[in-house]
Amino acid sequence: MLKMTDLVSIARSLFAPGKGLLAADESVHSATARLASYGIATSPEMRRQFRDLFFGAEGIEQYLSGIILFSETLLEKGNDKKLFTESLLARGIVPGVKVDLGTEPISTSPQELITQGLLDLPERLVTYKEQGAVFTKWRAVIRIDGDHLPTATALHENAKRLASYAKEVQTAGLVPILEPEVLYEGTHSRQRARAVIAETLGTVFSVLEEHSVDCASVILKTSMMLSGSESMKKDSPGEVAKDTLEVLLENVPRQVTGIVFLSGGQTPEQATENLAAIARQAREVDVPWPLTFSYARALQEEALSVWKGKEENVSAAREVFLARLAKVSAALA
Ligand code: G3H
Repeated sequence: MLKMTDLVSIARSLFAPGKGLLAADESVHSATARLASYGIATSPEMRRQFRDLFFGAEGIEQYLSGIILFSETLLEKGNDKKLFTESLLARGIVPGVKVDLGTEPISTSPQELITQGLLDLPERLVTYKEQGAVFTKWRAVIRIDGDHLPTATALHENAKRLASYAKEVQTAGLVPILEPEVLYEGTHSRQRARAVIAETLGTVFSVLEEHSVDCASVILKTSMMLSGSESMKKDSPGEVAKDTLEVLLENVPRQVTGIVFLSGGQTPEQATENLAAIARQAREVDVPWPLTFSYARALQEEALSVWKGKEENVSAAREVFLARLAKVSAALA
């Protein structure tokens, strides 16, 4: 049986064959915007139903090793009247929590963002752990604009906060997922995304080393190497996989427990096909880490379009969700 105090075992358990993560950690602000985009008016109860739609789907444990929650969800119950954290754990799905508090503009470079949440982090981690969280996530946001963004300051400052976060989380006995997300939005080429992601990861891991963070229980959550969403260029899955793996092999230490991918605004089909190509090429080149998905939008989009916030659509929406999970899981094989 898994010892929940052993960080490396917990981190490895998230990479069980054929399984990955559902990122269901939208903040109140993001959940409100997400639901509104499907014509669903939000409220605390509607957010709880939004979570229950996904967590209450029978059979998700076949595809999910873990779910990243938003802090309010740690205290909520499903329609079965059980705490979400307890019913997930009972099905072998490890609950985690997003611990950053969102972003704000960098004073010296206001078009760029720095992530907040370090000040009271130690106290919050104690609470989240008591509430059942076993792993955590911190998201930094890096924007590409021509050759002038990101600035070295944005990369370095965000890397320093990711390192401080990782250190605090490991001290608290929780697993850190570090998500330096390089945004897909933009007109940039795949080559530019590749260069920026390489620089971002290089900066993050050199700062982690300066802070003596133990990478053996660190999980990296990364963007894939894609041409910007407004570039009019469609990359083939083979191109995405080749660039993604080359950058990871050049910039991520072997000791890292594993790497998970975010979907970043790709369509569900695109995120599935690209993951399949990455997994296939990763086997050919024999990468040193396990790889899997940690998607929010690419797993939820189709189900939300069917659900529309209506009780009578729940089972059809869950069917669509399970069908996408099955395809994403099959992409890993
Ligand atoms: O912070 C973002 C999530 O962890 C991943 O979401 O798959 O929609 O990019 P996404």
